[in-house]
Amino acid sequence: MTSTTIDDCQIIDLRKIHDPRGNLTPIEGGIDIPFDIKRVYYLYDVPGGESRGAHAHKQLYQLIVAASGSFTVTLDDGREKKSYHLNRSYYGLLVVPGIWRDLDDFSSGAVLLCLASEHYEAGDYIRDYKEFLEYKSL
Ligand code: TYD
Repeated sequence: MTSTTIDDCQIIDLRKIHDPRGNLTPIEGGIDIPFDIKRVYYLYDVPGGESRGAHAHKQLYQLIVAASGSFTVTLDDGREKKSYHLNRSYYGLLVVPGIWRDLDDFSSGAVLLCLASEHYEAGDYIRDYKEFLEYKSL
């Protein structure tokens, strides 16, 4: 998807079921987020100062959650950038297709949980920024 902008991405305030025994946040595909979940992965043990991401997807929708700790996600549509510091396990960042993302500033013990709309497909990635701008016709 080529015409998307960072304004199509947003923080989703997830349900939080308070309980003195510990809180719970459910995420149901098509109900809490606007896609069905085909894949889940998580990033953890990220060394201090490391960066991840640095790519865009052509078709993939993702919800990114700081399940533990914190990190910064910078979204870029080729014209504008916006950074989100995620540090609560009940906020999800919806990232639509056609958006470049950089992930950095991981706290120690951070766990980035990602819910994805598609199975892993290497061909869905754009890993070169110049190619990304061409894809966006910029
Ligand atoms: P990548 O998406 O580049 O990681 P990040 O954006 O967090 O820096 O993936 C890193 C490696 O892991 C790459 O070789 C592909 C592999 N991988 C899978 O096999 N399945 C997956 O679901 C994901 C997300 C990555």
